[in-house]
Amino acid sequence: MNRNDAQKTPATFQVKSFGCQMNVYDGERMAEMLGTRGMTAATDGAAADLVILNTCHIREKAVDKVYSDIGRLTREDGSRPMIAVAGCVAQAEGSEIQRRARNVDIVVGPQAYHRLPDLIDRAGRGEEAVDTDMPLASKFAALPARTKQARPTAFLTIMEGCDKFCTYCVVPYTRGAEISRSWNAIIDEAKALVDGGAREITLLGQNVNAWTGEDDKGRAQGMDGLVRELAKIPDLKRLRYTTSHPNDMSDGLIATHGEVDKLMPFLHLPVQSGNNRILKAMNRSHDAESYLRIIDRVRMARPDIAVSGDFIVGFPGETDAEFEDTLKIVEQVRYAQCYSFKYSPRPGTPAAEMDGQIPLTVMDERLARLQALLNRQQADFNTATVGRTTDILLERKGRHPGQLIGKSPWLQSVVVTAPDLSIGDMIDVDIISAGPNSLAGELSRRKAA
Ligand code: 5AD
Ligand code: SF4
Repeated sequence: MNRNDAQKTPATFQVKSFGCQMNVYDGERMAEMLGTRGMTAATDGAAADLVILNTCHIREKAVDKVYSDIGRLTREDGSRPMIAVAGCVAQAEGSEIQRRARNVDIVVGPQAYHRLPDLIDRAGRGEEAVDTDMPLASKFAALPARTKQARPTAFLTIMEGCDKFCTYCVVPYTRGAEISRSWNAIIDEAKALVDGGAREITLLGQNVNAWTGEDDKGRAQGMDGLVRELAKIPDLKRLRYTTSHPNDMSDGLIATHGEVDKLMPFLHLPVQSGNNRILKAMNRSHDAESYLRIIDRVRMARPDIAVSGDFIVGFPGETDAEFEDTLKIVEQVRYAQCYSFKYSPRPGTPAAEMDGQIPLTVMDERLARLQALLNRQQADFNTATVGRTTDILLERKGRHPGQLIGKSPWLQSVVVTAPDLSIGDMIDVDIISAGPNSLAGELSRRKAA
């Protein structure tokens, strides 16, 4: 199947990001970079000259999706765009992707996408265009400065990679070792985002709270120091961070939750399992008790904090009794929201080779029980906010005319009818009702507490 001439030097592009928020961030940076090189985002994605699939490798389902998406890019007339596979599937599978899907022109890993322009040129000349290097010099130095987003919320990657090597996880292989971006690069990017209109910034990293660096006076700093510095940016109203690891929840960061008003009362702290034998087999380097102690201390610092987590059911060898321990820890923590998954064996990870792989039917049943409990907790958490007055940051239009949707400090979606207000406004609302996934609010005459 041939591409037509237009696609040899593509003028328009579409980036489709899958998976985690860091992929969303990477997708934005790719789009901005192509923009500064004179390419434009396609208004009609189906007609784009170049389609970048920014992929996720975390579970098998995510990988299968990439291949079915590649197939769907061929148009009715038999033509197709130039196709680039970026992200973690690109890193993990490299040129193997082109053996499985001959339509793919470019394969570019998550640490090499600053070289996309050159790869596009090479692909246009019909040359091999595969780059899964993990260069020592950070790609961030090679990327153009942020362009204005005109959106009230923004992501900002402050560190990447993972040194933890949980036995089920591909991230240490696809994203590489933990690398922190510099203090100045982060502060400058945050200021640029705020100048462009961002009012809330979510700091990103696979282990975001493992961030370390030096401030502009050469003093050693951790994430707490960075959060305190970012909070000084006047027009920045809210800060969040994700995803954190229990072992990197420092005393300073816990204290910051009680002391920095702009740091939102929300903590995503995955535990994965409530059973200590499984946690050990997962190489999590914390146990159920140490996790619970962290949650207690964070709640002491910030009593209204909403806690979120990730869970895996059916890790190899997990017995019924061990799974029950996961339900127990959920009962103890009382989560505001969570993500839960069936274990998915990933090629090259130690757990994929372990004895005792759990049948799908058992995993299905465990996941259903866990999710029923988590959904109840989420509904309870939402219901408990009814009657409160809180601030929300308006992020997007609702379904009906005059409706806007914003986020509460606890990351709940709140729907309000406010025809005179705009996206980006921060307003106080009274929460009047709660559903499982969102709240309804009314403009308040009171000030949020
Ligand atoms: N199978 C299922 N879930 C996984 N996760 C990571 N690797 C796997 C896997 N092999 C989940 C973990 C992690 C989240 C991002 O994805 O819960 O915290
Ligand atoms: Fe994967 Fe564990 Fe690293 Fe999280 S901490 S990215 S689950 S290896």
